[in-house]
Amino acid sequence: LISIRELYKNREKYMDKKVEVGGWLRSIRDSKTFGFIVLNDGTYFEPLQVVYHDTMDNFSEIVKLNVGAAIIVKGTLVETPQAKQPFEIQADEIFIEGQSTGDYPLQKKRHSFEYLRSIAHLRPRTNTFQAVFRVRSLIAYAIHKFFQERDFVYVHTPIITGSDCEGAGEMFRVTTLDMAQLPKNPDGTIDYSEDFFGKETNLTVSGQLNGETYAQAFRNIYTFGPTFRAENSNTTRHAAEFWMIEPEIAFADLQDNMILAESMIKYIITYVMEHAPEEMKFFNQFVDKGLMERLNGVVNSEFGHVTYTEAIDILEKNNNKFDYKVSWGCDLQTEHERYLTEEVFKKPVFVTDYPKEIKAFYMKMNEDNKTVAAMDCLVPGIGEIIGGSQREDDYDKLISRMNELGLNVEDYGFYLDLRKYGSTRHAGFGLGFERCVMYLTGMSNIRDVVPFPRTVGNCEL
Ligand code: 4AD
Ligand code: MG
Repeated sequence: LISIRELYKNREKYMDKKVEVGGWLRSIRDSKTFGFIVLNDGTYFEPLQVVYHDTMDNFSEIVKLNVGAAIIVKGTLVETPQAKQPFEIQADEIFIEGQSTGDYPLQKKRHSFEYLRSIAHLRPRTNTFQAVFRVRSLIAYAIHKFFQERDFVYVHTPIITGSDCEGAGEMFRVTTLDMAQLPKNPDGTIDYSEDFFGKETNLTVSGQLNGETYAQAFRNIYTFGPTFRAENSNTTRHAAEFWMIEPEIAFADLQDNMILAESMIKYIITYVMEHAPEEMKFFNQFVDKGLMERLNGVVNSEFGHVTYTEAIDILEKNNNKFDYKVSWGCDLQTEHERYLTEEVFKKPVFVTDYPKEIKAFYMKMNEDNKTVAAMDCLVPGIGEIIGGSQREDDYDKLISRMNELGLNVEDYGFYLDLRKYGSTRHAGFGLGFERCVMYLTGMSNIRDVVPFPRTVGNCEL
């Protein structure tokens, strides 16, 4: 079979020749003696028109085909200068690979994203989701390409862990114990000593801690894998299972970290614009009208920079616009993040040096002893897309911060070792992959950029 992509890309090679394609029927109409089928094979955003005639043996079966059916067409590719599409196939033969029953849920009309979520197994056959998931695939590739070209080592960090990297307690527990008969310690806590791993374990919320150990061996590394958070927030940008890209760089500080993040984002945008022009045009036309202009602007300008303290000053002056009023020390909510990036900077912006109280234990303390060397990257339409920091590389400071927060130091022995054996300045960040896909496609709900989303109360398929 030749792919429809190949026909579009190298059309001269196939023009007026015999070709064979397979795909799924998007629409069909017939007159008495001939008819048209619009076929999509998933390899290319544009479909292919097929013309068939009553001279074919199975003409009577073909006219009965339903939308969604799988067919194979043999015929001649011919130019159609008068038509919307540049060419079509004049079919000699059509094999019916699999008829579709008449109740196919995707008919030739616009379905709401909400409805399509309820048929997540079929939505990849629609234009929007063909575009979303091809672009998602391309972004993943672009990210690997970006890091590999810079000699970063790709590290596979574990999915099952015994630590809570972000210290937010939002973990999914992993256990083989019978939940109805969990053994208890004398103090009432659950006793995991008889469990599979002999200790309490959970699905990872971030690969960072393990990633750091490899950065202290390879200098520059990145992870790219699934992460899990039992955050009870039912929003358009939180998923319980999402993918994260976490580079970690040794002999580097917060500044180097932001330079890396900015060049990565620009690289991804450039790559996708170049390799998915049809899809991007589609998003720009049907999903988010300002998309292309905005992304072009991002590639051609510098990201903004503001400290948390400066950001709070700006936001406080506009507190009347927010549901949740800000003051120094509070965590930024989506509405504040979006205000900063959409109204104040009108482009991606790094917010740096957050109060230590609202950030994780591993971040490097600043001289003021109040803030840490953190950076979040905020983008229009979404808010936080990246969270990162320079790491505390001083053994004593790290231990005392962990004690302050009541962390069980024994669980982090490996992590502390890094500060004993050749500690270096180092930094890293996490890019939320789904948020990145939202940013590049203009899709506004995280459920529509994950093939099979897992969110509070939803684990279908
Ligand atoms: O800001 P976060 O929590 O940072 C970390 O996990 C660090 N360990 C990263 C590092 O420094 N190596 O998460 C990083 C990013 C966020 O900016 C966001 O884009 C995404 O992960 N993210 C989520 N995406 C979807 N659903 C959720 N529930 C998410 N939580 C975080
Ligand atoms: Mg964060």
